[in-house]
Amino acid sequence: MSSQITIALSKGRILKDTLPLLKAAGIELAEDPGQSRKLIIPTTHPDVNLLIVRASDVPTYVEYGAADIGVAGKDVLLEHGSTELYEPLDLNIARCKLMTAGKVGVPEPEGRIRVATKFVNLARQYYASIGRQADIIKLYGSMELAPLVGLADIIIDVVDTGNTLRANGLEPRDLIRTISSRLVVNKASMKVKHDAVSQLIDQMSRAVQETC
Ligand code: ADP
Ligand code: PRP
Ligand code: MG
Repeated sequence: MSSQITIALSKGRILKDTLPLLKAAGIELAEDPGQSRKLIIPTTHPDVNLLIVRASDVPTYVEYGAADIGVAGKDVLLEHGSTELYEPLDLNIARCKLMTAGKVGVPEPEGRIRVATKFVNLARQYYASIGRQADIIKLYGSMELAPLVGLADIIIDVVDTGNTLRANGLEPRDLIRTISSRLVVNKASMKVKHDAVSQLIDQMSRAVQETC
């Protein structure tokens, strides 16, 4: 690898699950982002740096070329809606389901429903696809609260174990789609830094297959 490569990802589950895949590609962090307040993290590979960004900002950094590569959930990628990103690899990490959920035993009202979510574009597309009238309320987190305090009838959020829904007296309803995190690549980087980028994709792809 001789080109400089910048990789954008978010702290938490994506960082944790991506580290072993990067390691398989010969890339290890030179500093622990959990300890450091730095947002640009050098790696043991002289040509590779990591950017620590908000999960929902990863597509933006990669789209504008501020990062060559990123790791983001398919939920975030669909909500962002960019056609300007290559998505060459399903990393099969941070797996969950995008679902509707509502209060246990409370049927959905007839007619228009109120839906709270941070995925407003996905929510609009979903209700349009099933021909249901829905008022979408944008939230930035703690969606599970919305039906409990009468803000919404339904939420749309990602579900894994279902523990968060259960803990708040909610039940999963409709599966919108299964989700995993993807490697995304800036279109210009794919051309200009082709050898370095495709080598990284190949190495990470082999690591994904080995862990399946
Ligand atoms: P955020 O701070 O935006 O919530 P997360 O690290 O929680 O960031 O989520 C990053 C991605 O991981 C999400 O876009 C989604 O694809 C996936 N994800 C979110 N919550 C879970 C979960 N509970 N279990 C598995 N994957 C999840
Ligand atoms: C996510 C998601 C749900 C929960 C689902 O939250 O927003 O609240 O996980 O997982 P479960 O079905 O296993 O309970 P997260 O843990 O990412 O917390 P956050 O509010 O910081 O995003
Ligand atoms: Mg989260």
